[in-house]
Amino acid sequence: MGGIEERKRDHISLCLDLGDEADFSEKTTWLEHVELIHNALPELSWDEISLEARLLGRKFSYPILIEGMTGGAREAYEINRNLAEAAEKLNIPMGVGSQRAGIENPALAETYDIVRKIAPRCFLIGNLSGVELAKHGVGYAERAVEMIEADALAIHLNVLQEIIQPEGSRSFKGILRAIELLCEKLDVPVIVKEVGFGVSREVAERLAKAGVKAVDVAGAGGTNWAKIEAERVKGLNAAKALIAELYSEWGIPTAASILEVSRVRGLDLIASGGIRNGLQAAKAMAIGADFVGMARPLLKPALAGPEHVEKMIARVAEELRVAMLLTGSKTISDLKRCRYVLLGPLSEWASQRARKASRGRR
Ligand SMILES: Cc1cc2nc3c(=O)[nH]c(=O)nc-3n(C[C@H](O)[C@H](O)[C@H](O)COP(=O)(O)O)c2cc1C
Repeated sequence: MGGIEERKRDHISLCLDLGDEADFSEKTTWLEHVELIHNALPELSWDEISLEARLLGRKFSYPILIEGMTGGAREAYEINRNLAEAAEKLNIPMGVGSQRAGIENPALAETYDIVRKIAPRCFLIGNLSGVELAKHGVGYAERAVEMIEADALAIHLNVLQEIIQPEGSRSFKGILRAIELLCEKLDVPVIVKEVGFGVSREVAERLAKAGVKAVDVAGAGGTNWAKIEAERVKGLNAAKALIAELYSEWGIPTAASILEVSRVRGLDLIASGGIRNGLQAAKAMAIGADFVGMARPLLKPALAGPEHVEKMIARVAEELRVAMLLTGSKTISDLKRCRYVLLGPLSEWASQRARKASRGRR
């Protein structure tokens, strides 16, 4: 039990200490390869632009999700409390980090359930790993939902992170079937997310078929768990440190993952992984996302206080509003129909994957 708590603490402090070094070094989100077409004649005024957006049937003031990050350690209590206060005030959804620590050690549950106490009306998203779900089944997931009276449950897929983690799992079997059973039995919608290496079209198709309602791509280009876990194994396990180094630029860039998942019907699409400003958010939505999510950039503001979180979200929302004006988009639905071109590697990716769509396996 102490092990999980220590790991949670390591993750927070490494993300804070590494700063932007916690992001991919070379690989980017590829959102810089999306060019929105400038509209010099938008026939709109600033104030009539609405950033309201829908996710899983609920309406929010901004299409911005506070991604699941933490819980299970003393520092996490403060972080979750402040994030929840901001989310409630701004009317945006919020996730918590993996709830395994709170399920296995009830004394830690308060580091998660503080979010519901602070934010009684907020759309809260619980979180468990696919590995834990496959091990323990639906009852375990129900405890995660009950813990924070969650409105949805996110199951995270993190194969590369587990492989590098000193204490990580080696078995990734039975996760899809466990997700399918969960979708059948759970009272709230199921979201499946990556943690920073992206989701392909083929995986999204299998998830949609299993009954999943939303996919959060958590693509490459933002927080890099191969690099963060590498810091934890350094000096402890030389073989794992080498693997971490070799795979430190692995993953589907966020923009490519949005294109992949947007081709699958029946899924709400959340774009996270390296979303750092409102222009990136606009591009993500123009190419297919319904919502964007941010994690690591909110960590430091969350430690400083809820007003700092609000300030950062407000900045991203204002930047997004500018992109909406410049593309003549009065609403998020308009933005999702705006004109764009794909350049360079993203354009290549899109055309190669379109050609190969009917070939190959999984
Ligand atoms: C400190 C920290 C802890 C995280 N813990 C979890 C977690 O427990 N469960 C999960 O699904 N994702 C977790 N994530 C991943 C984020 O939800 C998100 O998918 C990823 O960081 C990409 O977003 P970003 O580039 O904006 O950070 C964590 C991210 C951070 C920064």
